[in-house]
Amino acid sequence: MTTKIVLGVSGGIAAYKSVTLLRLLKKSHFEVTVVPTESALNFVGKPTWEAISGKEVHSKVFQATNQVLHVKLGQEADLIVVAPATADLLYRAAAGAGNDLLTATLLSSKAPVIFFPAMHTEMWEHAATQENIAILRNRGHLVINPVSGELTGSDEGIGRMPEPEQIHALIKTFLAKPGVKQDLKGKRVLVTLGGTSESIDPIRVITNKSSGEMGSAIVRAAQLRGATVSAIVGNTNTVLPTAERLISVTDTNSMSEALATEAKMADLIIMAAAISDFRPRQNLEKLERSNTQSIELDATEDLLLNLTNNRRPGQTIVGFAAVTSDLLLNAQQKLAKKGCDLIVGNLINDQQGFGDLQTEIILVSKSAVIESGVVTKNQAAHLILDNC
Ligand SMILES: Cc1cc2nc3c(=O)[nH]c(=O)nc-3n(C[C@H](O)[C@H](O)[C@H](O)COP(=O)(O)O)c2cc1C
Repeated sequence: MTTKIVLGVSGGIAAYKSVTLLRLLKKSHFEVTVVPTESALNFVGKPTWEAISGKEVHSKVFQATNQVLHVKLGQEADLIVVAPATADLLYRAAAGAGNDLLTATLLSSKAPVIFFPAMHTEMWEHAATQENIAILRNRGHLVINPVSGELTGSDEGIGRMPEPEQIHALIKTFLAKPGVKQDLKGKRVLVTLGGTSESIDPIRVITNKSSGEMGSAIVRAAQLRGATVSAIVGNTNTVLPTAERLISVTDTNSMSEALATEAKMADLIIMAAAISDFRPRQNLEKLERSNTQSIELDATEDLLLNLTNNRRPGQTIVGFAAVTSDLLLNAQQKLAKKGCDLIVGNLINDQQGFGDLQTEIILVSKSAVIESGVVTKNQAAHLILDNC
């Protein structure tokens, strides 16, 4: 059955980004009904929403009254997404107002709700806004923090809505686990993702094929399950998630430095990054093609082992094993050798591996072995978190 999403749009400048979000949701074959507030229609007009959604668009309760729209939309929705959510909309939703179609629909629905606030920094930091957000979160709704960046006009700061591609990815991760609960509320999660590279000479690098897709899905899944998530990000070619802190790294050394600061604060560390096992012996000059070269490799620091050797009490550490054969055996050996709580193993071959949207993983702990079968990376991310 098609998933029915109500896309609520309130009157912030970021409303224009939700046009792209609507396009992405439609491309993913969701049935989307757009419910803009009257203010939102000052930013993007009805014809745009109607043409792209392929549906009539209303903003008032006293429109299409023969259908009693707010009740119909609220009852039929599988998910309500409000993007952008203005300070005013958050206030009205927290207070239980029903004075327009969007707030009345929110009141008429038992579907999960995800709010994406977007506003100037002062409005975001205002006690009234923060109190309204606390009310909504206590009620079980998801409120995704805005990011720092360009705001309306020339200023910058926290308050910017995540990019449509990031919101789209988050929605897909949310829908990958029906009935997902906020079971990581209060937990601090650290995820490493992407690949690292090591210099061969001042121009060339040795790297790996990691796309960062799996780690990004884990960041999003942990966020949706209520955790405060930070990520250390190597080379990636995926839509990066938003996070409490996103630290960019290039090589094993910078990954190690970032881990030294970030790991101390985490309750759960998931090492999804493909960190180089080797680094070429230093070449300060560009290698020339005139004569054949052999590159000597030194082993890099074992960052997973360092983490488990220095783990703080109660900290859970998850490692990854990408192998080309004997998946179970290799994963069990790595679990024992690295001293982590869980190893996520996956087999790399011609059919599957880095960069694919689907995967097949095996979870190995001291007490259990769980095989995922073929799943999306969003489903795999939830399965990993279910077992941490
Ligand atoms: C140019 C302009 C940009 C605005 N941008 C925002 C915004 O990004 N976030 C916000 O909370 N309010 C913003 N506002 C204020 C809201 O439009 C205003 O509070 C309105 O009452 C919100 O109505 P609604 O919540 O029903 O959509 C903006 C107003 C103007 C004129």
